[in-house]
Amino acid sequence: MNCDVTVELGDRSYPIHIGSGNLDTLGESCKAAGLKGKCLIVTDETVAPLYSDRVFQSLEKAGFKPALEILPAGEPTKCQAQLFNLYSKAAAHGLDRKCFMVALGGGVIGDLTGYAAASWLRGIQFVQVPTTLLSMVDSSVGGKTGINIPAGKNLVGAFHQPELVMIDLDTLKTLPPREFAAGMSEVVKYGILWDAELFQTLELTASGLADFSCGTDNLGKIIARCCEIKAEVVRQDEREGGLRGILNFGHTAAHAIENVAGYGEFLHGEAVSIGMVYAAHLSVALKGLSVEESARIEKLLMELALPVGAPKLLWKKIRAAMAVDKKTVGGLTKFVLADRIGHVDFGCEVPEALLEEVWDGISQ
Ligand code: NAD
Ligand code: GLY
Repeated sequence: MNCDVTVELGDRSYPIHIGSGNLDTLGESCKAAGLKGKCLIVTDETVAPLYSDRVFQSLEKAGFKPALEILPAGEPTKCQAQLFNLYSKAAAHGLDRKCFMVALGGGVIGDLTGYAAASWLRGIQFVQVPTTLLSMVDSSVGGKTGINIPAGKNLVGAFHQPELVMIDLDTLKTLPPREFAAGMSEVVKYGILWDAELFQTLELTASGLADFSCGTDNLGKIIARCCEIKAEVVRQDEREGGLRGILNFGHTAAHAIENVAGYGEFLHGEAVSIGMVYAAHLSVALKGLSVEESARIEKLLMELALPVGAPKLLWKKIRAAMAVDKKTVGGLTKFVLADRIGHVDFGCEVPEALLEEVWDGISQ
């Protein structure tokens, strides 16, 4: 399967190439996108032995002068120290304003490299080569880049759009099942917030998706649909003035869970799964989402091997962590809530007592 989705942003529009074997054509696609000269490929210790040679060679064959930087795998890498390490590597490789960076890996590498590119020499070009399901359907598209600081996740960053996104579906074959499931959580999110038909497709194919037996083509179509939805939302609201907020469905509680449990305890997608169940229950209470639809959401997430019960973490800590969420304005934590599968509203206020009551209700 091979297809392209375009993120339409005027003269900053860019393609998302989706297909099998795309790592080997990365160099040619970079040339077609008008990139030139030297580049810094950033990846992690897990992805490097699997894919960095092919990416390096593809770029070299197309006439680029790549250098490779391999970082530790995992969320702690999305930090200030690694950001400054990338600046040093960019300086050592002589990256000037015409050069670019390549993020080869999951969302951690994509967010960090994107922010390094956004800030190096006040901004150079970069390319996303996502290798996790989560990064294919979400983090590589839309230009949000950044790092974590001790006060919270993603608190420092910039909007900086890539020149292109290169998705090689074959890279998913080496992804551990737990990481794959975590990515499916964001896929389910698109069904809930935008596309009831996608949600239904997921319900019908859940078992084949969970064990990968649905095949690369079917998976590719689902990934392409998620990219289309994200591209459309970003086209309408690049800087999250309003609509883009819907992509945070389930994320208010998710960020709090990750923060309180300690980064790395829950995968981001796992925390999002619990956060979506929390948001669904709030939606039943406040937005008229039917109990049946809320149950369908929970069932689908369970079939995809995702957690749905809130961990026994102290509510007060969770509530405090929710308050530093980026969606908190003037002390009021706002939520994205669904009135039905396929449609959500952003900026919803929730009575304080209900926040705790629903948390208790889904706690294990
Ligand atoms: P990740 O980047 O940590 O990757 C998960 C693990 O999978 C890592 O250990 C990695 O080495 C390994 N891996 C990656 N590709 C592999 C492959 N093909 N085969 C085998 N192993 C592979 O995590 P992630 O889930 O991709 O991304 C999570 C991050 O993305 C979080 O920091 C989150 O905040 C961020 N995020 C950003 C946005 C955005 O819009 N910028 C959106 C959603 C999430
Ligand atoms: N993942 C949320 C966004 O890109 O806006």
